[in-house]
Amino acid sequence: MVSAIEWRAGPPPSIRLLDQTRLPHTVSYLDVTTLDDLRAAISSLAVRGAPALGGAGALGVALALAQAERESWDETTLAAELDRLRATRPTAVNLAWAVDRIRPLIPQGRDAVLAAAQRLVAEDGAANRELSGIGADWIEQRVCRERGRREVRVATHCNTGALATTAWGTAYGIIHTLHERRRLGLVYVDETRPLLQGTRLTSWELHQDGIEHVVQADGAAAGTILRGLVDVVIFGADRITANGDVANKVGSVALALAAARAGIPCVVAAPSSTVDLATATGADIEIEERGADEVLTLAGVPLATPGTRAWNPAFDVTPHDLVSAIVTERGLVEPAVAGPGALAALLA
Ligand code: MRU
Repeated sequence: MVSAIEWRAGPPPSIRLLDQTRLPHTVSYLDVTTLDDLRAAISSLAVRGAPALGGAGALGVALALAQAERESWDETTLAAELDRLRATRPTAVNLAWAVDRIRPLIPQGRDAVLAAAQRLVAEDGAANRELSGIGADWIEQRVCRERGRREVRVATHCNTGALATTAWGTAYGIIHTLHERRRLGLVYVDETRPLLQGTRLTSWELHQDGIEHVVQADGAAAGTILRGLVDVVIFGADRITANGDVANKVGSVALALAAARAGIPCVVAAPSSTVDLATATGADIEIEERGADEVLTLAGVPLATPGTRAWNPAFDVTPHDLVSAIVTERGLVEPAVAGPGALAALLA
């Protein structure tokens, strides 16, 4: 499996990013040596997915120290550069979380910062493996045993595999684990407009893993679920608030609503680093708004009448009462039935 993000010692030191804007047809890499270039790669979604953004943020602190040495930055410049890095994408909490976790180590020097950043990256991969087993166990119990299904048919949204994380994936990791256990039926992959992470990225990863799937238009998803073609919805998260509300790629809440109406579980998978206990509810999450071109063009070709305006929130919020299970590497909570303090208790 490809690595979305890697540290290269240099000189000059760089972060090697698999350029996800060009997948699946072109596999190419960006060797990012400056914070400006890293922020540009994050903004353009060359690197994307909350846990991968955490990796980029952590390694970004090491990159900033290397650039600071080369360009003789003072402390104020370094702090301002890191502040700008952590704010590049505001909804995915992992980016700010990772920068904030690593930057206090700056006084210990570059080697200590790099070692801590690489530990954070490795921990994310391990967390994904762990949560995938926990999520697959829960689905085997709740869907296979209790509902008598040998294999589960899954609907998923956006991309949550190795590309979106540092390794293995979150929602994708559960799907992959169910496949390994021979418990997986057909996977319905939402195309995930406007940037088509489902069509371009999830389908690419599923092909590589030999997992049977179909890509569907986002507008088809709710109908597919209500027709009884799906046994469980599984998606990832960019931020999970203290009460269990879930921000994820725009379109996710439609799957959750349809799942509730159809009486099937909606499972959210994320490392504990995506849980933001400091934010009370989904109403308090800043939702990133992106450019109109992403909606009004397709592969660079204008679609709409010139002058048409667009509304392009990159994420939506699924209320906790629509979420059957939040799966992390530390365990699982069922927010629709658990008390408001359940996530905090899990992560204590
Ligand atoms: O805008 P993106 O592609 O970064 O959005 C990604 C998602 O919404 C993912 O579902 C989420 O970050 C979880 S990735 C494991």
